[in-house]
Amino acid sequence: MSVAVPATSTAGAVARGVRAIGVDIAPAMVEVARARLAGVEFRIGDAKALDDADARFGAVAGAFGMLHLAEPDHAIAEAFRVLCPGGTYAFTVWDGPERATFLGMGIQAVIAHAEMTVPVPPGPPIFQAAGRNFTAAFAMGRECPGHAARIDSPPTTKAVSRTRVIAVLERGAS
Ligand SMILES: C[S@@+](CC[C@H](N)C(=O)[O-])C[C@H]1O[C@@H](n2cnc3c(N)ncnc32)[C@H](O)[C@@H]1O
Repeated sequence: MSVAVPATSTAGAVARGVRAIGVDIAPAMVEVARARLAGVEFRIGDAKALDDADARFGAVAGAFGMLHLAEPDHAIAEAFRVLCPGGTYAFTVWDGPERATFLGMGIQAVIAHAEMTVPVPPGPPIFQAAGRNFTAAFAMGRECPGHAARIDSPPTTKAVSRTRVIAVLERGAS
């Protein structure tokens, strides 16, 4: 199962020959995913309250969905509920702006140039799930029988200077 889909993450699972289901809370995202990946089941659903029976999936994955949730612990608990014993739960989040340089630059540009008084709905802090801050929430996985929890930092995660990011953007990502 792929939570907070759209099509990209689910496509990866399908390419491996896995029967995958994609879930996203936004109807428009589900529509796009359906249009991109014909024959795959996509449905509207909330990561914090999945419609599925217990122990139904061999793997649950979520790419960059967790950081949108005000209560990520609920989504983690749901993922472990629908996982078979010994199944795998994997999700990705942004690292803090001091390491995720590109994202940090984007945030600074927004702060400098955007109209910041526009009312927006309340949301969770974007870096709530970054680095060590999130280990306490993720520890819940260790308490689920039959599962092991591990936090990996990809080997490519490293602080990069702003100058280098700009140079790559100007050159193009070839
Ligand atoms: C940044 S996008 C991630 C897209 C995709 N996984 C990727 O890596 O390209 C975050 C997605 O999370 C979805 N989302 C936000 N809250 C959600 C929730 N409670 N349950 C399920 N999906 C949610 C949004 O609708 C959005 O499609």
